[in-house]
Amino acid sequence: MDIARTPTTPDGNIEMADAAVEPKAPPEIRREDYTPFAWLVPATRLDFELGIDKTRITATLEVERNPAADPTPTIRLNGDGPKLVSLKCDGGDCAGHTMDGDDLVVTLEGDSHTIEIVTEIEPSANSQLMGLYASNGMLCTQCESEGFRRITFFPDRPDVLSTYTVKMSGPKALFPILLCNGNKVDEGSDGDDHWAEWHDPWPKPSYLFALVAGDLVARNDSFTTMNGREVELNVWVRDGDLERTEHAMESLKRSMKWDEEVFGREYDLDLYNIVAVSDFNMGAMENKGLNVFNTKYVLADPETATDGDFDGVEGVIGHEYFHNWSGNRITCRDWFQLSLKEGFTVLRDQLFSQDMGSEPVKRIEDVRVLRGAQFPEDSGPLAHPIRPDSYREISNFYTATVYNKGAEVIRMMRTMAGEGAFRKGTDLYFDRHDGEAATCEDFIKSIEDGAGLDLTQFRLWYSQAGTPRVSVELAHEGGEAVLTLSQVVPDTPGQTGKKPMPIPLKIALFDRESAEHSGEQLVVLDTESDTFRFPGFAQLPVLSINRTFSAPVTISRNIERSDLVFLARHDDDPFARYEAMQDLMVGHLVAASKGELGDEERAAGTTDIVTALRSVIADEALDDLMRGELLSMPSQTYIMEQIEAADPGRIFEERESLKATIGTELKDELHRLYERAEAVPYSQSAEAKGARKLKTLVLVYAAASDPQKAAELAAHQYDRADNMTDRQGALMVLTGIDSAERTGRLLDFYNRYRDNALVVDKWFSLQAMSLHPNVIEHVKALAQHEDFTMKNPNRVRSLYMGFAVNPHGFHAASGEGYRLIADLILELDPINAQTAARFVPSLGRWRKMEPVRSAMMREQLERIAAAPKLSRDTFEQVTRSLG
Ligand code: ARG
Ligand code: ZN
Repeated sequence: MDIARTPTTPDGNIEMADAAVEPKAPPEIRREDYTPFAWLVPATRLDFELGIDKTRITATLEVERNPAADPTPTIRLNGDGPKLVSLKCDGGDCAGHTMDGDDLVVTLEGDSHTIEIVTEIEPSANSQLMGLYASNGMLCTQCESEGFRRITFFPDRPDVLSTYTVKMSGPKALFPILLCNGNKVDEGSDGDDHWAEWHDPWPKPSYLFALVAGDLVARNDSFTTMNGREVELNVWVRDGDLERTEHAMESLKRSMKWDEEVFGREYDLDLYNIVAVSDFNMGAMENKGLNVFNTKYVLADPETATDGDFDGVEGVIGHEYFHNWSGNRITCRDWFQLSLKEGFTVLRDQLFSQDMGSEPVKRIEDVRVLRGAQFPEDSGPLAHPIRPDSYREISNFYTATVYNKGAEVIRMMRTMAGEGAFRKGTDLYFDRHDGEAATCEDFIKSIEDGAGLDLTQFRLWYSQAGTPRVSVELAHEGGEAVLTLSQVVPDTPGQTGKKPMPIPLKIALFDRESAEHSGEQLVVLDTESDTFRFPGFAQLPVLSINRTFSAPVTISRNIERSDLVFLARHDDDPFARYEAMQDLMVGHLVAASKGELGDEERAAGTTDIVTALRSVIADEALDDLMRGELLSMPSQTYIMEQIEAADPGRIFEERESLKATIGTELKDELHRLYERAEAVPYSQSAEAKGARKLKTLVLVYAAASDPQKAAELAAHQYDRADNMTDRQGALMVLTGIDSAERTGRLLDFYNRYRDNALVVDKWFSLQAMSLHPNVIEHVKALAQHEDFTMKNPNRVRSLYMGFAVNPHGFHAASGEGYRLIADLILELDPINAQTAARFVPSLGRWRKMEPVRSAMMREQLERIAAAPKLSRDTFEQVTRSLG
């Protein structure tokens, strides 16, 4: 169970010399060192005698030599803490065995053997939530990436595929429901105990193994596949949560249909089970036929879930379902290939959500996530390519880079190929590599062959880290528009002197008089610098570039403010229009925060912004979801990223002041918008969602311009809310205003929802994310609240992730915010290393900050690094962050 380990000699003596030299540096695993495993494991039998405090596992492995690998006299079975009770080879003693660190190495003389291993584990003591653990009286598993080795000794690597037969037995009263991968083939009773046997016909790596045992109820439904297979669908939850599973079930059925229609993928078992658990490190897990989900991504109803929560459920249900092909039928050769399944599956879930709702709004949301999480990662000490070259702890590489940039890279292939050709490429990939553990290279090759693209140079996107910067100049020469583009791929840790990459940019050139363009074009910049000429322009056009965010790059250009106002009003690509609006505000806020604006320039800048926003409010062609996007201010984090040695305090003031000006100048328009939105009754329609988005947005502006009025309005919205979106939006605004309304509504919210853990999470995070001047004191007090626990990742994240992303609190000039997060990391690390390590990157931004804050952040990282016993997860993130 303990991740920190003491090296021992074979006779058990502590190796003092080693311990003194390098007390805690875990080894670095390198991609180029990959070798195939020496053994195949065609069949695995697992027998679980289940108990909350003690579970006994008998694992029977059929092994045979891998003809494709170098022969060795031993087999290495990975372990991470299970107690070895007994070991047999072919029914008797093994020729030899030894422990090498945590691994069990068994001598095997012949070409095929049966190994039987009995282990014991303690699920209730498993606070890391990896392997088999107890949650709320039930048992469940999380094996990706290396959790299976906490259950039994096994070649716990994704390129060893085996067919699993699993028997589960345990007390019927405690575990009335017994679930595993595949299909149930037999069951029976034995006094107070009962048992079930499951068989999964599809060979899979150990990370896709799952079991669940507990007192659960299901929403049951079915889906008939394109070839007529009748699939039973179940969403399993605790008694009482059943009414909140309808949206998850509908999302599942829509995912199954969509994957048939858009990617030609059909489901391949007769049963699909989803289980919601309240203690979970991540969002969800795609185990074959038995997805395990964080409750956050299953449970939703209008009373307790926001519109954003509903979208989250749909997206994650889709994501895990799509993994059945991109991940399970074709898995990864090694963990360096993680983006093969994650990048591709994120793209698939993004396209799915685009099709289910508003395409442009979904695109804007995805770009916001990329810029908010991935761009900072890519410009900081933890930057890595989407296919990393080395790691110490693979859990640290489930990143925005591997997931979200990975998706963008495949999206670029799709943009260059066109949808039809791209589909030929993915068809070929699924066909060619079905049943295999594949590599990113296999995927690229399939797209090349199937879509007819040459991706030779494009492969650099897989090996080079860093967000490319594209500089743009547009000139007018002799009736032609002349576009000059150049690119720089910045240095990142361990990578300098990078090569230019192919960057596909969708552009349009607008005529200034007619405000029209003669068609969108795709320009691919694949050299350091290039010039593109467009004839037929009597005067300089207005350039709209990187439309739909066709490439994950930053654009730098000297564009007139009036051109941005023009694009914010006329661009027919909704994303580009949003972008122009954002650029207008970002440009102003960056200049203002750096003290570069004189009074006149400041006034002119705000006037342009207000004018552009006014035209957005008045534009009747817009739907309200899109209008909400266009009216939103850029986040403080995004502005900070644009500035060297950023001063968060200064940026905060400028941003609040612009917000107040907008609130004042557009007071009447915003008020009318609110009244119109208020009249729309609750429903899940795009219209009603848009209305709710606008209402809270109006409150946000009012809070900056007229706090007392905003508090009254927000309290009113809170009181008459018939759904969580309105209620949470109102409370979010109220928590930032020091007012009587604030205290009363916070108390009401808690009392109303104290029995619903997911809503109590909201209550914690709203306060942690608030703009209130005393937010640090509030967070400290909340950490002492009877409902706070370090054992539940959702609760920890709701309080501390909320705080770490709140620049107002985290970057407090005193440095108190930094200390708070460092204290949390140190306290959480021994309990849940994976979750603790996720907080390190916020402190890792120290190089980007002004000198005083920078030094304080660094100091906290050093304090963590000096701790006597750190997990592999936190050790790696802290050393890289300091490096
Ligand atoms: N494959 C899962 C998903 O993307 C994530 C599992 C991550 N697990 C972990 N221990 N890091 O849906
Ligand atoms: Zn995934």
